Amino acid sequence: MSFLIISSQRDPKNWVKALKEHYPKLDLEVYPEVKDPSKVEFALSWKHPHGIFRDYPNLKVIASMGAGIDHIIGDNEIPKDIQITRVVDEQLTKDMSIFVLSLILEYIRNLAQHHCSKEWKPGSYLRPEDVQVGIMGMGVLGVGVAEKLIQNKFNVTGWSRTNKEILGVTTYHGDDQLGKFLQESRILVNLLPLTSETKNILQKSLFEMLPKGAYLINVARGEHLVEDDLLEVINNGHLEGAALDVFRQEPLPKDHPFWNNKKIRVSPHIASITNPKTVVPQILDNYERMKEGKELQNVVDREKEY
Ligand code: NAP
Ligand code: GLV
Repeated sequence: MSFLIISSQRDPKNWVKALKEHYPKLDLEVYPEVKDPSKVEFALSWKHPHGIFRDYPNLKVIASMGAGIDHIIGDNEIPKDIQITRVVDEQLTKDMSIFVLSLILEYIRNLAQHHCSKEWKPGSYLRPEDVQVGIMGMGVLGVGVAEKLIQNKFNVTGWSRTNKEILGVTTYHGDDQLGKFLQESRILVNLLPLTSETKNILQKSLFEMLPKGAYLINVARGEHLVEDDLLEVINNGHLEGAALDVFRQEPLPKDHPFWNNKKIRVSPHIASITNPKTVVPQILDNYERMKEGKELQNVVDREKEY
């Protein structure tokens, strides 16, 4: 039985190191140099080339290196009986909450605007208690971000698929309550998983339900956003701007209009990057559980797609 690492776009060396430290005898294979695909039962994966799992007849589990699993389920050749797991990690949540807080603070204190204007023009600014932040997706990361914002005196609302009760957060759920949630969101933070229901959700009709002058933060997935619609509502003044960490095409092409738009903050998908050191124990725990035929942790519901 062997353990496979597949990591496109990210160097797997820190994963190999952390896995070897925790489990020196692990029979580890690193894609594409795989000696015997028929021995592989567990794969740790980030953005695998679609279709390759066909060559692994005894594969039982695919573990995502991150919180999102859209890069796995987007491959429709993965048999339904293969279990998919994802990362739930305190460090990942902390990193995400600090990142979103930083973007919001930078925005409400107009820091980018002051820098870009190259003019000495002190002006008024928003204070946390005057700002309503709406978070789409009240899962592990959404709740972590909400808690951080509440600690910093922001007003927070949340929207999810099912009803939630979260201390200090006004919650909404389902399509029927989306409009009410959006009407109140001066800053909108997207932390939804990418699914067939949420793909392209950040589009013109949704933006038009936000108050005039709203600000968008997308830290979930690029495919949530219809890019031309965002440019349109920024250009016509309905949205004041956006901070984007994720893109339909990553790396964001050098000639993409987002780079040169003064109202758009771009970062290279760094809101929260999995730290192999903190996450390897939960991956190996699932590996052991699989070997012993026990129930796995953080399993994704393939029907719900998250
Ligand atoms: P999660 O725990 O699975 O939470 C997902 C939340 O979205 C849940 O509250 C769920 O509602 C809600 N949701 C799903 N489908 C919905 C729908 N159709 N309508 C309304 N709400 C819906 O996920 P997470 O761990 O918080 O992660 C969220 C996403 O963040 C990941 O999938 C990934 O794409 C992204 N991410 C980005 C970075 C980065 O560096 N930029 C890092 C990590 C993760 P219920 O609670 O009702 O089920
Ligand atoms: C990063 O984007 C993740 O899904 O963990």
